[in-house]
Amino acid sequence: RARVTLPSLAARAAAGDKLVMVTAYDYPGARAAERAGVDLVLVGDSGAQVVLGHPSTVPVTVEEMLVLAQAVRRGLTSPLLVCDLPFGSYEASDAQAVATAVRLVKEAGADAVKLEGGGRMAASRIRAITDAGIPVMGHVGLTPQTATALGGFAAQGRTVEAASRVLREALAVEEAGAFSLVLEAIPADLAAEITPRLRVPAIGIGAGPDVAGQVLVLHDLLGLTEGRAAKFVKRYASLLDAMVEGVAAYADEVRSGAYPGSEHAYAMPDGVLDAVRA
Ligand code: KIV
Ligand code: NA
Repeated sequence: RARVTLPSLAARAAAGDKLVMVTAYDYPGARAAERAGVDLVLVGDSGAQVVLGHPSTVPVTVEEMLVLAQAVRRGLTSPLLVCDLPFGSYEASDAQAVATAVRLVKEAGADAVKLEGGGRMAASRIRAITDAGIPVMGHVGLTPQTATALGGFAAQGRTVEAASRVLREALAVEEAGAFSLVLEAIPADLAAEITPRLRVPAIGIGAGPDVAGQVLVLHDLLGLTEGRAAKFVKRYASLLDAMVEGVAAYADEVRSGAYPGSEHAYAMPDGVLDAVRA
């Protein structure tokens, strides 16, 4: 498969092909995404929750994102690799945002970075990073890094004022130079209104079908997460159940003595032990 580039993505989106994006946080996740033929892979700060066990995306550090992104990079050749700028790594200034983005590109081989928001701060950061030569993906609607200020993890854009704000922010993100943006947890009708007003592809998560593409958290779609999932999550596999079954079967066999069998044991060449004993 040919390597996905910004022009090839734009061409696919213009032709009406749905873009497929999934998150990954390690080498096997990257291999799965690569072999499944997705278009974009996101090293999301959702890794704070699904692989590091934090209650929100807020605690993950740039150093931790670098480790995750480096592992993903080693497993990918074709898809475009996008890496989230974690909370606290871009808000202070344009210079801070550019410095963080440069690290993700230089030290982890990210093709692009993603940051949350569509207000004045976000627009300025998107412009600065883009001017530095690094493609930026925007993210509006439900923005988990600032969910507390938004009133929790509820869907966004469900009043006249809130819907106007999501639309305004999506246009501002495009205007600032983003090559694409994520629309998270907004009514399908609102996403359908915003998408055709953009020249860049809108990737939806909980934004209905009328967007240029979809993104899901790998661990959600594979059933690696516990507890109640968001409304928009569809589970395509039950990997955590499969993992528990596998480890439990191993534990049973160790306890019963069924494992290891002779086929898992190394044989000693004839005569060696006799010589050791002598
Ligand atoms: O961190 C993440 O996984 C994301 C996607 C859900 C868009 O930002
Ligand atoms: Na994210």
